[in-house]
Amino acid sequence: MPMETERKMKKLEEKIRTCRKCPLGSLRRNAVPGSGSYDAEIMFVGEAPGYWEDQKGLPFVGRAGKLLDELLGEIGLSREDVYITNIVKCRPPENRDPTEDEIKACSPYLDMQIDIIRPKVIVPLGRHSMNYIMKKFGFSPEPISRIHGKVFEARTLFGRIIIMPMYHPAAALYKPPLKEELRSDFHRLKEILKYNL
Ligand code: SF4
Ligand code: URA
Repeated sequence: MPMETERKMKKLEEKIRTCRKCPLGSLRRNAVPGSGSYDAEIMFVGEAPGYWEDQKGLPFVGRAGKLLDELLGEIGLSREDVYITNIVKCRPPENRDPTEDEIKACSPYLDMQIDIIRPKVIVPLGRHSMNYIMKKFGFSPEPISRIHGKVFEARTLFGRIIIMPMYHPAAALYKPPLKEELRSDFHRLKEILKYNL
């Protein structure tokens, strides 16, 4: 990994930790920039930090995170192999959905993270993340129930990128049938990785 990558990411994370660009900045305990490898070929993008993420300053450390770890493990990956972040870096009160304005204020950070890490595969988790990532790469958002597990290929300034939207792990915890869908999407992801990394 170029030294430049680490320096840029550390600087960006610092900026996020002290950001006050939207009202969520004054409600948080900790901003949650992201975690994992700056060298990752796969990037997971969730929605926003919840209670435990806000407490710890790390993404996906609550129940949804346990499920994410379990599914990563099933396909031979650990958190250290991937980069995990969210579209919104501070916790919305009562875990409500992030607003359009909050997404607008915060998403430039995600854009910068993508530009620095240059992943080969992006997995948006859930509807909000899928909407943002699909639009960013020139695709029309569709219901997550229809496009989860499908492969979209886009061109970027740094090369080809694959997007595979999935259900949000928290949704899968509430609805057990979705958990099996999410699991089978992870196994599809493993197949896709074999041919694309
Ligand atoms: Fe800044 Fe994003 Fe936190 Fe808003 S949610 S204060 S834009 S880091
Ligand atoms: N849900 C998310 O979308 N992100 C987290 O970091 C934790 C739970």
